Amino acid sequence: MASRLITVDTFDFIAFGGTGDLARRKLLPSLYFRDCAGQIDGASRIIATARSHMTSEAYRELAKTAIETHVKPEERDANGLARFLARLEYVSVDVNGEDGWDELANLLKPNESRIRVFYLATAPELFGTISAKLGAHGMVTHQARVVVEKPVGKSLASAKVVNDAVGQVFAEQQIYRIDHYLGKETVQNLMALRFANALFEPVWNAAHIDHVQITVAESIGVEGRGGYYDTAGALRDMVQNHMLQLLCLVAMEPPAAFDADAVRDEKLKILKSLKPINESNVGQLTVRGQYEAGASAQGPVPGYLEEIGASQSSNETFVALKAEIANWRWAGTPFYLRSGKRLAQRVSEIVVAFRPIPHSIFDASAGPIQPNQLVIRLQPDEGVKLQIMIKDPGPGGMRLRAVPLDMSFAESFGERNPDAYERLVMDVVRGNPTLFMRRDEVEAAWHWVDPILEAWASTNMAPRLYRAGTWGPSAGVALVERDGRTWHEDGI
Ligand code: BG6
Repeated sequence: MASRLITVDTFDFIAFGGTGDLARRKLLPSLYFRDCAGQIDGASRIIATARSHMTSEAYRELAKTAIETHVKPEERDANGLARFLARLEYVSVDVNGEDGWDELANLLKPNESRIRVFYLATAPELFGTISAKLGAHGMVTHQARVVVEKPVGKSLASAKVVNDAVGQVFAEQQIYRIDHYLGKETVQNLMALRFANALFEPVWNAAHIDHVQITVAESIGVEGRGGYYDTAGALRDMVQNHMLQLLCLVAMEPPAAFDADAVRDEKLKILKSLKPINESNVGQLTVRGQYEAGASAQGPVPGYLEEIGASQSSNETFVALKAEIANWRWAGTPFYLRSGKRLAQRVSEIVVAFRPIPHSIFDASAGPIQPNQLVIRLQPDEGVKLQIMIKDPGPGGMRLRAVPLDMSFAESFGERNPDAYERLVMDVVRGNPTLFMRRDEVEAAWHWVDPILEAWASTNMAPRLYRAGTWGPSAGVALVERDGRTWHEDGI
């Protein structure tokens, strides 16, 4: 089944940090795929900037290598690649100085009325400076948009500084704060599941849902990003953004429309309803972990300290926590979140665990009746699974068994699953911010996360060690088992 292609208007895409990791791994391949799909018209340009001096020709070589490295051979198309590379230009820009800004402005000038996307794939400390320079050099036209990568700040206060600085130059509706989890196919499917089916809404509340689990487990370590990661940690890196966004999409009220403000207003209400975690309850509601040497599927792997080349660090590479939403729909239904690096497997999923049946009509020989579960698998093997009880087939009494109604998206639709960035970058060009974070959302998320960080510091809550290649410290399991529940591991 071919997906419907919505072409976009002609645009100029300007990538700051154009030689960096994100540009090579995500932006260039994503734009290449959209170009091959015919979504980008002939006149659109991609202008990369970075500090180093190189010609546009040399940049095209860099981009070609990036695409050959990050796009599977069977997904490459020589003609498509040649056409894509021809769109690329490079300008050396000194973000903190004056070099290159006039050149960039002159390059953009002939296309003043065109959509302009400034993509800041740089350190967040530079977001304000770059925005100011773009403003000062007259590049912020009314068709301009700016995309900022996470992390937006390290705390509420620093997020406000970044938001203020970018907001001096760009209006809020021109600012696209990207959270690539919102571009993932299954995350959007969660909204389709909830709001395009009548089946779930009547039972989508604390009366019928016992608890929700959100797991984002990675098998990789810090992958050379130790400098950033050691100052961030799993709570800031994954929970403040990706995981809270997932929680919001599960928990929010049905928005009146699938439009940017309606959706984001509902998410914001959830963020504001999260019960505070602070010094008084941080020990019961959160677990921090840090991996030590162990093994991955590929063989032995070093511990975190060795990986970042430090003799000591109290940073967490694993976090598990129990969140509660204080509103009528969810009071009494905990949301357990866990995320970590160097865990046993790469798996991201949302498990909605329903309450047990109120009374069984079957006698003990039928076996235990397991409560229904809806499992929304983000990666790998995107899909949705609804676990129900059935009668074990065949003669011989009533025996019950749990089976999944299982829908794998790859099997059902069989297409290449586009990367989240492909959709999100095109959404920016189209001017659709629904899947991006509004300023108040980012700040509300920090407002909830800050007291956890402060409580960890004030109570000296050191991370518990776990062997790389396991499911994290045993305290992470205990967090859920204490409540008489277990982490979902079926199919993991
Ligand atoms: C990023 C984090 O936002 O998300 C990384 O900074 C993490 O630490 C990554 O590895 C995970 O993304 P994905 O799409 O691979 O699950």
